[in-house]
Amino acid sequence: MREQVAVLDFGSQYARLIARRIRECGVYCEIVRHDISAGEVAAMNPAALVLSGGPASVTNVDSPGIDPAIFDMGLPVLGICYGMQLMAKILGGKVERGTDGEYGPAKIAFIEPVPLFHGIDAGMDVWMSHGDQVTALPEGFVPLATTRSCGTAVMGDKHRCLYGVQFHPEVVHTPRGNEVLSNFLYRLAGCRGGWTMGRFLEESVINIRETVGDSNIVCALSGGVDSAVVAALLNRAVGDRCRSFFIDNGLLRKGEVEDIRIMFTRDYPLVMTVIDARDEFLAALKGVTEPEAKRKIIGETFISVFKRQKAAMGDARFLAQGTLYPDVIESRSPLGGPSAVIKSHHNVGGLPEDLGFELLEPLRELFKDEVRRLGTELGLPDRLVHRQPFPGPGLAVRIIGDVTEETLKVLREADAVFRNEMSRYERLNEVWQYFAVLLPVKSVGVMGDERTYDNVVALRAVSSTDGMTADWSRLPADLLARISSRIINEVTGVNRVVYDVSSKPPSTIEWE
Ligand code: XMP
Repeated sequence: MREQVAVLDFGSQYARLIARRIRECGVYCEIVRHDISAGEVAAMNPAALVLSGGPASVTNVDSPGIDPAIFDMGLPVLGICYGMQLMAKILGGKVERGTDGEYGPAKIAFIEPVPLFHGIDAGMDVWMSHGDQVTALPEGFVPLATTRSCGTAVMGDKHRCLYGVQFHPEVVHTPRGNEVLSNFLYRLAGCRGGWTMGRFLEESVINIRETVGDSNIVCALSGGVDSAVVAALLNRAVGDRCRSFFIDNGLLRKGEVEDIRIMFTRDYPLVMTVIDARDEFLAALKGVTEPEAKRKIIGETFISVFKRQKAAMGDARFLAQGTLYPDVIESRSPLGGPSAVIKSHHNVGGLPEDLGFELLEPLRELFKDEVRRLGTELGLPDRLVHRQPFPGPGLAVRIIGDVTEETLKVLREADAVFRNEMSRYERLNEVWQYFAVLLPVKSVGVMGDERTYDNVVALRAVSSTDGMTADWSRLPADLLARISSRIINEVTGVNRVVYDVSSKPPSTIEWE
């Protein structure tokens, strides 16, 4: 059985980050709900548990709890922030609201050298975010570190291997946080490690072969990294019995279809068919301007094209999808409440169940950065593995207003100029995503001696790590000037270019 650590999620915005950090330390990790029972934990057979932080206060009666029997299982436990306070409260200590709280950077001083801080000197910079604090330790625990305003910044019971840290080792603002997590895993919890993409690849190939037997698989390529990695992985496992196809919906960037074709016929040969459904998508979008309506129509059209294709793939038993771990955990909220729908993201994942395929989701345990590493391990070209994200509804959500042949042409050309200039930008690695947006306004300009009354293009470039939050990129003024001048001169129908200086939140990355 694979070695794994479970993170109990108390509604923390950082639960995922904790899981990623643990995996970066070489140990597979899964996030589970905080109300998991001791029996369910036993069935998972984890090597250790981590209790996440959370927005609640353990001093409130209805705050999220934990099955107390979990602490009697003899498992090593690390509680972080709320997780530490909950551990203290349940095991007989005391938690109280502090006078000021502690938010942001702090320095902790160690009281005595312990394995949790192996390799780190007498103290370290940490990041804190708490109002409550542990004021009396449970029996068996000793204080291990303090800050100026928190008497027990770290506590531990070395006999039961239970530890609590008030700071957040998972965030980058705790520069040596990874060492603390690694010390917990390897020096205290006795983990062996070995979670690598090479190993995952070997295991997956065996699992896929066992699951699929001698049946055929259909894989829908989107042009993005996830579906490409799925296709490559299945190709490695079952060869030509996996058949991929790509739906050209007419909402792609300039040269994109050709690029995909080259990538999967020359650079990484797969059995692939391109289905031309451009007219169908454009007809369905005619006159539609409301963003959610566009997304819905595009999703439905995908399904209807797919259903028609199904006849041609009649002998395929499986449908492969690029579902990732964040999709899996997003669909089960840790505290039970649904989170607000900002945009209905469309992926092939939205295909209805009655299509008559069995689903194959070989990436459902992986985070995005792991998928990229797997892609590299599989030998996919770098330009595919590091492709910037592109939304399922494509340029339709970058044309504010009517999506027509004409508006698509203007946006495609402007976007191509933007991409061409950006490809020479020396700090491109700092930009996570960039694209052009066509606005539904016209503005007055002057070209030569002529008055013009033409379209406005907005440029969007952002830095981000996962698309959940983003900051607008501070592109050099000279670069923006070149892009603007080239777009206005080279793209017929555009006489003004603006740069989007909004961050997410409160804006989103895409405009629709
Ligand atoms: P937003 O606009 O929500 O975008 O801040 C966050 C990231 O998600 C991408 N995006 C999508 N990806 N289907 C996708 O597969 C979609 O419908 C979709 N909408 C937005 C967006 O490009 C950004 O990277």
